[in-house]
This record gives sequence, structure tokens and C-alpha cells, in this order.
Amino acid sequence: MSTGTDLTGKIAWVTGAGSGIGEAAALALADAGATVILTGRRPGPLEDVARRINQTGSAHVQPADLTQSEQVEQVGDFIRATFGRLDILVNNAGINIVDRHWDKLTPHSIDTMIQGNLTGALYCVTVALPFMRAQQDGLLIHTASMAGRFIGGVSGPIYTIAKHGIVAMSHGLNMQECVNGIRSTVFLPGEVATPILDKRPTPVPPEVRARMVQPADCGDLIRYIAGMPKHLVMNEVHLSPTHNRGYIAALQRQL
Ligand SMILES: NC(=O)c1ccc[n+]([C@@H]2O[C@H](COP(=O)([O-])OP(=O)(O)OC[C@H]3O[C@@H](n4cnc5c(N)ncnc54)[C@H](OP(=O)(O)O)[C@@H]3O)[C@@H](O)[C@H]2O)c1
Repeated sequence: MSTGTDLTGKIAWVTGAGSGIGEAAALALADAGATVILTGRRPGPLEDVARRINQTGSAHVQPADLTQSEQVEQVGDFIRATFGRLDILVNNAGINIVDRHWDKLTPHSIDTMIQGNLTGALYCVTVALPFMRAQQDGLLIHTASMAGRFIGGVSGPIYTIAKHGIVAMSHGLNMQECVNGIRSTVFLPGEVATPILDKRPTPVPPEVRARMVQPADCGDLIRYIAGMPKHLVMNEVHLSPTHNRGYIAALQRQL
């Protein structure tokens, strides 16, 4: 599909690329001509995405647990040795857990949530920035969440804390790195029909998922952001389903 966005020659690293939003972002960026590096913990889903991309484009599988800094650095080493540059980081990997509320949280699960949603994303930025500073050019797109701006009851407190951190990280990056031609976008989706919903304490049925934002919608948006001219930065972008379950619940409470 031609979208008018041409990313030919661009090197893009997508984390969480084996499923959901990351998978869709990788497919969309590759469709626009970018060479994509796919990272996640499980090789199988990454290899499946790479196989589809490599029919017409170029994808490289680099599994890593992003909570382990040395594994993140190894992906950076691969990118340096193979391409010598990095144009786009889609800093997207994230997690949630079923036992996400204060009555069930433990020090271990708090570590899991902070490391999986915030620390790993910070590690990826530290690997990406030296490439981008040297190039005086680069785009960082971080997947936060509406929970990164609005404190609600669904996502759980530690996810909310971590995603607020991602929002702060992105704006802070623009404040310091704009002088190096580096742009940072923080993406705040509402409910997206991806496997992360399988961790909701209350199961989400298929007909509800069907009305949510779809992963491909996010891929289209990320491709659009990646194609924006270098003199522009989209600092923050929200994307929600029109059928917004949070708003509808609030309306029902007013009745
Ligand atoms: N779906 C929504 O409603 C929604 C809304 C707002 C924000 N988000 C955010 O969107 C992002 C993508 O999530 P998704 O909805 O697409 O769900 P998803 O399909 O579960 O994707 C999350 C991806 O992150 C990877 N990942 C998790 N921990 C990792 C780690 N330590 N190291 C490397 N990779 C890791 C997972 O792969 P492995 O398990 O193989 O590592 C998985 O592919 C997340 O940051 C999530 O918080 C989602």
C-alpha cells in the first residue's frame, strides 16, 4: 500500500515488535521503505513479523529483554556494526499484570512494572541518542498511554506511574536534544485491541475489542509521524476509540 510516506534508507528500531502496536508499527515503517530492527523477548513472534516484512522489505530480528541493560546495549552494537546509523526508535515495549492494584501489589511486581514500562525504555533511549547526536538527526517515538496523563482505575497505579514517567522523559528529551536535531514524540493511546488486554483483571470480550483502536491504526499514525519533515516535532499525540468506554461509563453515572 502506498501512503506517500517514503522512509527509504531509514533505519528504524522497534521494541515490542512481535505483537500489537509494535508489530503494526514495524509493518507500517517497513511498508514505507524503512529497514526495521525488531526487538522483544520471544524470538518466535519477531521471526514471524520479519518473515512477512522480508517478502518485500527488510527486517532484522534482535531479541532482548529490555530490562537488562547489557542486552539493550547488544542490540545497539548490532545496529552500529550492521548499519552504522539509527534514524527512528519506536520505544514501544510495555507490560501489565493481572494483580495490578494496591491490594495485590508486591515489591517484586512493582519492580516488574517499573522495569518493564520505564527502565527498559530509558535504556533504549541511552542507546539511541549517541547515533542521533552524531547524525544531528533522529526521531524517538515512545508509546506511553492515556494513563500517562490521566489517573484512572483500569491500568493500575504502577503502570500509571511508569507511563507518566514516559511522558516526562519524552518532553525532557526535546528540551535537551532539540539542539542536536533530535525529535521526541510521546504517543498516548486509549484502549487498543492487543494481547496486553489479556492481562486485564476483568476479561475483555471480542465484541468490545472490535470497537477499540486497532493496532494498524497505531501503525498508520507512527508511520505518519516518522514521515514528518525534520523541522517539525509532534510533541504529544492522543488516540482513542470514538466509542470511549471511560466517557460512556461517566455518562452512565450522570443518569
Ligand atoms: N493495548 C492498549 O490498550 C494500550 C493502551 C495504551 C498503551 N499501550 C502500550 O502500548 C505498548 C505496546 O503494547 P500492546 O498494547 O501492543 O501490547 P502487547 O501486544 O502485549 O505488546 C507488548 C510488547 O512488548 C514486548 N515486551 C514486554 N516486555 C518486554 C521486555 N522486558 N523486553 C522486550 N520486550 C518486551 C512484548 O514481547 P515479549 O513478551 O516477547 O517480550 C510485546 O511484544 C505498551 O507500552 C503498552 O503499555 C497499550
